[in-house]
Amino acid sequence: MLANLRLTLRNLATLLCLIAHAQATYKLQERYSWTELDFAFPNPGLKRQALASGDYIPQNALPVGMEHWGNRLFVTVPRWRDGIPATLTYINMDHTPAGSPELIPYPDWHSNTAGDCANSITTAYRIKADECGRLWVLDAGTLGLLNTTTYPCPYAVNVFDLRTNKRVRRYELRPDDINANTFIVNIAVDIGKSCNDAFAYFTDELGYGMIVYSWEQNKSWRFSGHSFFFPDPLRGDFNIGGVNYQWSNEGVFGMSLSPIRSDGYRTMFFSPLASHRQFAVSTRILRDKSRVENSFHDFVALDERGPNSHTTAHVMSDDGIELFNLIDQNAVGCWHSSMPYQPQFHGVVDRDDVGLIFPVDVKIDENRDVWVLSDRMPIFLFSKLDYNDVNFRIYTAPLSTLIDNTVCDIRNNAYGPSLFRQADVPNVAPSSRNYLTPVVGTGYSGTDLAKAYVFNNGMSYEIGSGGPHLFPRYSENLKNTVTTRNSDWWARH
Ligand SMILES: *[C@@H]1O[C@H](CO)[C@@H](O)[C@H](O)[C@H]1NC(C)=O
Ligand SMILES: *[C@@H]1O[C@H](CO)[C@@H](O)[C@H](O)[C@H]1NC(C)=O
Repeated sequence: MLANLRLTLRNLATLLCLIAHAQATYKLQERYSWTELDFAFPNPGLKRQALASGDYIPQNALPVGMEHWGNRLFVTVPRWRDGIPATLTYINMDHTPAGSPELIPYPDWHSNTAGDCANSITTAYRIKADECGRLWVLDAGTLGLLNTTTYPCPYAVNVFDLRTNKRVRRYELRPDDINANTFIVNIAVDIGKSCNDAFAYFTDELGYGMIVYSWEQNKSWRFSGHSFFFPDPLRGDFNIGGVNYQWSNEGVFGMSLSPIRSDGYRTMFFSPLASHRQFAVSTRILRDKSRVENSFHDFVALDERGPNSHTTAHVMSDDGIELFNLIDQNAVGCWHSSMPYQPQFHGVVDRDDVGLIFPVDVKIDENRDVWVLSDRMPIFLFSKLDYNDVNFRIYTAPLSTLIDNTVCDIRNNAYGPSLFRQADVPNVAPSSRNYLTPVVGTGYSGTDLAKAYVFNNGMSYEIGSGGPHLFPRYSENLKNTVTTRNSDWWARH
């Protein structure tokens, strides 16, 4: 009897464990996974040859960027170490809807020849497909990483037509766009009134600048030296995947663009890597070459996200929901940009201490499906990956599923009065989340939400009948209000 009971209890414990695990997992559904990356060589003989010669060394390949367009899922693999046969690749999702597919060079093998500057991509990091059917790729032109880096090719913007798979533009960055420390990984693409009215923005992580490229003018310029591009000296220590290391020089990195606001421009949100902050500037400033030396006060600092909130990748949906990787937390966070940029309005849409170790890239596609690539990068760089284990994963889920029951889900609540009631908190927090309790009594009631507010140190948000819009405004008074509210919040936690 007793033994039976014990057995039952143990079964129950196991069952509860399984349930807890199932709940902790996981809105994101795994679509592809690899222990090591594999490439689609033209035939098995060539693959054997490449393996034998060291032109292909599977364990040197780390995926760092991803983009979804149509039936293709693009994956980039930088040439940080030897033996990377292609840097810009894709998966044909019709042929391989799941599993561990071989990566197919894009647009072809020839265009992935390291050092063939004019015709090829030498190293690609983040890439972006735009709504006009173009794929934007910055060739970093480098081989190696840090003190092993060589520079066979200049930084060059490459744009491909995804319908014809032809390159339609190549533009080398000017010598004045870069400096001796330049390291550019990230790209954001801003489409305005037409496909011709397109700009690309690049963050210079180690040279501390932001480079702007105008498609129409076929010209580039650089915003340099703004203190918001620099790392925070207090935020340079990282603990990820069991590895402690310092990325203390790492400055401006992640970028996301708001929907077009009532003034016709977007808000660019950006964040340094060694930092817990996000900053903002209007694309009205970035698009204007005459403002590169003359725009310090047009950049706005938002509040800190809170502890363990380094981020490298963010993206914003066309209705203003920002997703960002939380690399210290093996998680992806969210923020509805009609809310103040404060920790109590940041949610965690998913967390997974195995599968989401270093969620390196986050994208939202034209169907509002979210894609997340995780790659255990710190273990690859500073320790050693276990090639008996799954190391690289690509997840997907609809954006609406991800924000469901988070603080970012203000649509389903239709700005209703119960949105931030204290009593609702346990229901909206996923079990695995370190949820930060919302502030009550700060005026975010249902009726108030319909009005325009000024939050975030002068960046104001307007919620009208057509959904949230963002527009910049500056007010010393309100800046003080926000600071006070923020200090209050920290005092109470
Ligand atoms: C590069 O730096 C690493 C770590 O600091 C060191 O071990 C290595 O010897 C250096 N390599 C070269 C080529 O200088
Ligand atoms: C853009 O400028 C580059 C020079 O930097 C030039 O090589 C290229 O042909 C130009 N492209 C177009 C479409 O004007």
